[in-house]
Amino acid sequence: MRTCYTGDVGKQYLDQTVTLFGWVHRRRDHGGVIFIDLRDRAGLAQVVVDPDNVQAFAIAESIRNEYCIRITGLVRVRPEGTVNPDLASGEVEVLCREIEVLNASVTPPFQLDDDNLSETTRLTHRVLDLRRPQMQNNLMLRYRVAMEVRKYLDELGFVDIETPMLTKSTPEGARDYLVPSRVNAGQFYALPQSPQLFKQMLMVSGFDRYYQITKCFRDEDLRADRQPEFTQIDCETSFLNEAEIREIFEGMIRQVFARVQGTELPQPFPTMTWAEAMRRYGSDKPDLRVKLEFTDIDDLMRDVDFKVFSAPANDPASRVVALRVPGGAAMPRSEIDNYTKFVAIYGAKGLAYIKVNDAAAIPEGLQSPIVKNIHADALRQLIERTGAQSGDLLFFGADKAKVVNDAMGALRVKIGHSDFGKTHGLFETGWQPLWVIDFPMFEYDEEEGRYFAAHHPFTSPKDGHEDRLESDPGGALAKAYDMVLNGWELGGGSVRIHRADIQQKVFSALNIDEEEARLKFGFLLDALQYGAPPHGGVAFGLDRLVTLMAGAESIRDVIAFPKTQRAQCLLTQAPSAVDEKQLRELHIRLRATDVK
Ligand code: AMO
Ligand code: AMP
Repeated sequence: MRTCYTGDVGKQYLDQTVTLFGWVHRRRDHGGVIFIDLRDRAGLAQVVVDPDNVQAFAIAESIRNEYCIRITGLVRVRPEGTVNPDLASGEVEVLCREIEVLNASVTPPFQLDDDNLSETTRLTHRVLDLRRPQMQNNLMLRYRVAMEVRKYLDELGFVDIETPMLTKSTPEGARDYLVPSRVNAGQFYALPQSPQLFKQMLMVSGFDRYYQITKCFRDEDLRADRQPEFTQIDCETSFLNEAEIREIFEGMIRQVFARVQGTELPQPFPTMTWAEAMRRYGSDKPDLRVKLEFTDIDDLMRDVDFKVFSAPANDPASRVVALRVPGGAAMPRSEIDNYTKFVAIYGAKGLAYIKVNDAAAIPEGLQSPIVKNIHADALRQLIERTGAQSGDLLFFGADKAKVVNDAMGALRVKIGHSDFGKTHGLFETGWQPLWVIDFPMFEYDEEEGRYFAAHHPFTSPKDGHEDRLESDPGGALAKAYDMVLNGWELGGGSVRIHRADIQQKVFSALNIDEEEARLKFGFLLDALQYGAPPHGGVAFGLDRLVTLMAGAESIRDVIAFPKTQRAQCLLTQAPSAVDEKQLRELHIRLRATDVK
């Protein structure tokens, strides 16, 4: 029987005999004495095998890294000068009396403490990768976060109810993963993109407060913060308004941070309207740690000679902004060139700039190829409005609003996170949460020439905005909110529509006719007819939350068995071909071009 985890062997066991189970992290032969760093999920302990113990020593000589062993021995104080302050067990060591090899290991494909492994290597050998202390910590953290979420919600009377995995397409806007039905030839289930419609129906059923920590599936382009299957903390409540819902769930996030890592987040979280976030930061998930923001200058640039600015300044669908970088005049030309290339990724055609050498001398004190084309009055107002001081740099974005927001929003974050930003006080460390509220109901897709739901089609318009659904869909705002933390969208939700007539108007704005609405969501529309309570909710990305708390770069680092950018599992080799018989049972025939 194990006395304790190896990582927990400390002074409290001094002069006691302990039995430990674990893996050989490292074995060192020190001229006659063998040291074994024994590892388990709690950490490392140093085991000393003395040659006097002939039997144990012979076994210790034969063991290699990653052997699974049991040892029994006496806990003693480490000799002076050999204390390891980095280890919880660093003050003591275990003098081995007995060793048993429980299982040998072939030579691992990499050293577990190698920090420069490629992700391909790590994901291919995920079982070993997960043995690494960092990954053990990440998954333990994930568990503790999920546990605190459950405790908080349970306290408030939320009930965990499971919803189906084999279901009908849901409206989150990504592509579905489909599952063919064997018993219903030619028909398919969709894996849920979220439990959205089921949680709404549970409200109609009267459960009042629902939650679920559950998998969602979305076939979309993958990035560092996206997986094809990911986990939501999914919640829904009845009879609460927007502000009340936000208060409950920011309380949850605050409690998780406090209990899991002793961090106090601000109370309450600041709120910012979507329009303000776009205006100041060009993003609906602004990283507030970055102390830079846009200044709108359309009105100043309408009558300048510089076409690059005056054309968008006179176009309502475009915008012209300045981004003031305090101290930025010291930035070398090469860095400005790199930023110009960077904004091009987001579609910007250039990156005009002005170095403010002397803010009081206009125009001589302004250094830039574009200054000669902008009259002095506009320059003077520009300097005044941006608050530019001598030694600052102004960057400019002028284009369709989306291009400017994407390019200059990304530039803002890039500069803030750069060495320059960090050494010039443009970046503040710590946690900066906020709620972005008052999202628009719809987004217009230029290519398709129609509106899409900005959140999903069951989101309620703001009170008083019902008529705009028809008269001015683009101007209708929604009772929708996102929680943003350090530039990541952590969660999003809304108050839902519980009245059939409003739902109908939203469908028409989305060009969904009655037949299509019945076909896709008839079951929800029916449910709404039976005294559906006013309801609303939110869903958080558990993977994202844990990634931020772990300080990891990718959500793949907090998921035990994640998929690659190409949606593959390198460990199991999924997805893979299936045999002809299986396909036939599912009534599926592959096209010749698809067969590999
Ligand atoms: P939404 O689509 O905003 O809302 O998703 C909620 C949260 O889930 C996380 N998330 C993801 N995490 C990892 N990989 C992905 N591919 C991925 N997609 C989303 C994000 C996001 O904020 N049913 C609504 C919620 C509601 O209205 O209650 C929904 O799913 O952190
Ligand atoms: P040009 O007159 O095209 O040579 O551009 C002069 C300056 O304006 C250069 O510094 C370009 O990088 C910059 N520029 C060009 N197009 C844009 C744009 N759409 N937004 C911001 N700056 C731009």
